[in-house]
Formats: sequence, C-alpha cells, structure tokens
Amino acid sequence: MTLIAVDGPAASGKGTVATRLARWFQLPHLDTGLLYRAVGIRAQADCADAVDVASAFQLEWLEDDALRSDAAAQAASKVGAIPAVRAALLHVQRTFAATPGGAVLDGRDIGTVIAPAADAKLFIDATVDVRAARRHADLIGRGLASRFEQVLADLGERDARDRARTTAPLTPARDALVLDTSRLDVDQVFGVARAFVLAKLGRAEQDLPLAGGASISR
Ligand code: C5P
Repeated sequence: MTLIAVDGPAASGKGTVATRLARWFQLPHLDTGLLYRAVGIRAQADCADAVDVASAFQLEWLEDDALRSDAAAQAASKVGAIPAVRAALLHVQRTFAATPGGAVLDGRDIGTVIAPAADAKLFIDATVDVRAARRHADLIGRGLASRFEQVLADLGERDARDRARTTAPLTPARDALVLDTSRLDVDQVFGVARAFVLAKLGRAEQDLPLAGGASISR
C-alpha cells in the first residue's frame, strides 16, 4: 500500500507531479480539484445549493471538458470554502485513498485532512508570478484566449480564498516536503519528488513498481 499526497496552490505544477508519480509507481490518481470544479459549475448552472449538489456527487461528472475552464476554477474555489461541501466530498476522496495497493491524490488538503496518514506528502509551490506565467502559457498553448494580468489576478484571488478559509485551508502538512518549483523544470521537480517518495517508502530506485491503476485527472 503506497499512499501519496500532493498539495499546493493553483498552477504550482502539483497535478503534473502527481500524474508522473502515479505513472511511475503505477498507482491510480485522483485530481481532487475536479470534484470541486464539478460541484461549482453544476451549482452555478442550475442555480442549485452547492451542498445539495455535493451530496449528490457522481464520478461521471468528472468527464466534462468544461471543468478545465478558469470559470470552473473560480466556482470551485467558492464552493470549496463551504464546510458542508467539503464534508460531502470527503467520503469519495477517502474511498479513493483506500484503493488496495495505494493511490496518488492531489489537491489542497490531502496531506492535512483527506489522508493524514499518507506514506509521503509533498507540497508543491512556486511564486504567484511564475504560476501565472505557466497558466498563461498553458492557456495560449491550448489555443484559448488569455491575458497575463487577468490570470495573475485570478490566481491571487483564488490563493487568498483557499488560504484564508477556516475549514481545510491551503497549508503544508507538518511532515510534507515543501518544494518551491519556481526555478525548477518538470523533470527536476519529478526527480526530487520521486526520490523523496522512495526514501519515505524505504525503497531503492531500481525496485519494481507496486501495482497497476487508472487515472482521474485532467
Ligand atoms: O486544483 P484546482 O485548481 O483544480 O482546484 C480548484 C479549486 O478547488 C481550488 O482553488 C480550491 O479552492 C478547490 N479545491 C479544494 N480542495 C481540494 C482541491 C481543490 O478546496 N482538495
């Protein structure tokens, strides 16, 4: 059983690290931001109560391209500040974390709330300017309209809300490796993360991966 928790602010690269760790360790991966995005856009579109929407959550909701939009991210951050929404989404995340063989989950409160007993916890960070530049380049690369100043403002607003909320605020677990990726490329970040997880597991680089699995991520 290998349980890996990856947390961090928006556009820090935590999703990329989690995806690569999951592939390398052959574990299923859940991008928990998708849950909040799905609840956020459904509540908004249906003018429904976010707690009711979260209580009716279905995994199929995660197969929706609209979840990738910045509007979905802002909606997610608003519903994520509601304690009853978080409580309603706890079970699905804990069930995923209990997958036999293990799992990788990424989000904001995996190491602190969802899986405090995780074998390895990472907190992936970067300066807000670097994160905004990465997100801006990603949007442009996907052929979407983007203005750097707007991306920067949106990230700042979302960070502030995620850090200030009283339930499960964005903060590193005490035993997490905090990795500032501002001056690192993806391969360097993955190398450090993989070495940290292996050390936590007491395993060597050449050991075979443990189990196979699917991925629920963007
Ligand atoms: O990770 P992502 O950018 O998709 O998350 C969107 C929003 O969902 C975050 O800004 C945060 O408010 C919320 N979220 C959360 N807890 C998680 C994952 C995401 O509150 N575990």
